[in-house]
Amino acid sequence: MQMPAVELHVHLEGTLEPELILALAERNRVVLPYADMDDLRSRYSFTGLQSFLDLYYANMAVLRTAEDFYDLTTAYLVRAREAGVRHAEVFLDIQAHTGRGIRAAEVLDGVKAALATSRDHGLTTGLIVTFLRHLPGAEALAALQELLALDAPLLGVGLCSTELTSHASEFAPAFDLARDHGLHTVAHAGEEGPAQNVWDVLDILHAERVDHGVRAMEDPVLVRRLAGERVPLTVCPLSNVRLRVVDTLADHPLRRMLEAGLVVTVNSDDPAYFGGYVDENLRQVAEVLSLGPDELLTLARNGVEAAFVDGARRAELDAEVTTWHQRLVAQG
Ligand code: ADE
Ligand code: ZN
Repeated sequence: MQMPAVELHVHLEGTLEPELILALAERNRVVLPYADMDDLRSRYSFTGLQSFLDLYYANMAVLRTAEDFYDLTTAYLVRAREAGVRHAEVFLDIQAHTGRGIRAAEVLDGVKAALATSRDHGLTTGLIVTFLRHLPGAEALAALQELLALDAPLLGVGLCSTELTSHASEFAPAFDLARDHGLHTVAHAGEEGPAQNVWDVLDILHAERVDHGVRAMEDPVLVRRLAGERVPLTVCPLSNVRLRVVDTLADHPLRRMLEAGLVVTVNSDDPAYFGGYVDENLRQVAEVLSLGPDELLTLARNGVEAAFVDGARRAELDAEVTTWHQRLVAQG
């Protein structure tokens, strides 16, 4: 039985499937450095985060018009619903598009129009703009100012890309401005970077959720704080394997994180690149880490608790999770 999932860590650009890359390249007459589909697919093997990011940003060259962003976002909504997602908070790396000459308004037009149809696809959604950590903090601030001037329908802001080349404090002005406008805050940390990066996004950026955060497990004091304050961690198991954060799924700390009382959720990150959407992430961790109905219930409830939704929507999601769990247990 499929779990009613809440997905809190998925980059829209990371849902760009190889078939859509080639179709959009043709539509927009973008010349890609790949001979064919086999050649493109042969590059989906990564030595770490940066080797993935190089391909991920390069493939965005095919996204040019509002229609492209509409098609990308709609394809995600369809696939997410098939994966059991009832509520998704999707990331948009706006600077990866404005940085190559696509207007923010063009990107937003497509994403907004598609997200407006979310309910027709059977889920609710929110949009989180993620600042790129390899660019200067001042550019993050300028990007947010532009989005606010465009009246972008933002739920929150986040921070992603490499953790190794900058300090979280560079992004404090952008996060402060976001909070002043009533936006939620999340940040990638503790994926390729050490546990200290998790402390930094909590203490300096006041992030409400930590994206990944798996390396927090290296610091018992941090684990106690995260558990005590019920800070959600949006964990992405298949991503962690493909980006070599862990050697194999059997080595993944998800079970230990649950046992430590952390508010962990399971997410897909960049499903077109890492071999599966949220259903596949759940299926594989449940099998490999032997998670039973109670642990799956905790994961589902954590997602509902961690979502930035109002009380009425939270109650609906909670009710769906309870019904699913009752059936799961009855089924044996
Ligand atoms: N952008 C897209 N996927 C990412 C990841 N796993 N880590 C950091 N930045 C990202
Ligand atoms: Zn991510």
